[in-house]
Amino acid sequence: MNPMDSSLETGRRYTLLDRLLTPADQTLRTLFASHVAGRPNPAENQPETPEIADNPANRRHVAALMRINHSGEVAAQALYQGQAFVSRADATRASLMEAAREETDHLAWCAERIRQLGGRTSVLNPLWYAGSFTIGALAGLAGDKVSLGFVAETERQVVEHLDGHLQRLPAEDTRTRAIIQQMSADEERHGRNAELAGGAQLPGPVRALMKLTAKVMTRTAYWL
Ligand SMILES: [Fe+2]
Ligand SMILES: [Fe+2]
Repeated sequence: MNPMDSSLETGRRYTLLDRLLTPADQTLRTLFASHVAGRPNPAENQPETPEIADNPANRRHVAALMRINHSGEVAAQALYQGQAFVSRADATRASLMEAAREETDHLAWCAERIRQLGGRTSVLNPLWYAGSFTIGALAGLAGDKVSLGFVAETERQVVEHLDGHLQRLPAEDTRTRAIIQQMSADEERHGRNAELAGGAQLPGPVRALMKLTAKVMTRTAYWL
């Protein structure tokens, strides 16, 4: 039977069940499924540099940086999904889920680069996911203006963080650079869109707390 027909028949009950099962399904997919990007990998035409291919220490370092970025993208999925879970407006929920789908490209590109470097993703991803889902849900409960302001501030901090990585990467590693530059451009756009959609400037202490949380995550994910 067409699922649309079933939703019409069972009405409200289907919707409630759907709202509970969707996050459970998304959580499992984010953490354990392999992701397929909708856009080509920005690094696909870049050759591997000898600085990476012949230097295990560089490979380990870059894999660790990309592990941080991969965990950041897991957290981004969770933030969007947490916000969507509590959002009452169908349009807001749909636009949040659309943004989460765009972030899937970043998740896939980071995972692919980590694989090429012989690294692994963070064992603490379930923890980052759970924490970020909760934070996203709290932001969502505070209303659309705060929720959008939260997206704008998160993306601003992510762009800053990615620019820092561009400075820490070996200059010759054009493959990793291409991915990070595209991610940074996307995050900047996400942040601008959230501002234009009416995101409010968050209070200073909240912004500082977000920065501190991100610092704990990035420092830990480099090693774990
Ligand atoms: Fe992203
Ligand atoms: Fe983003």
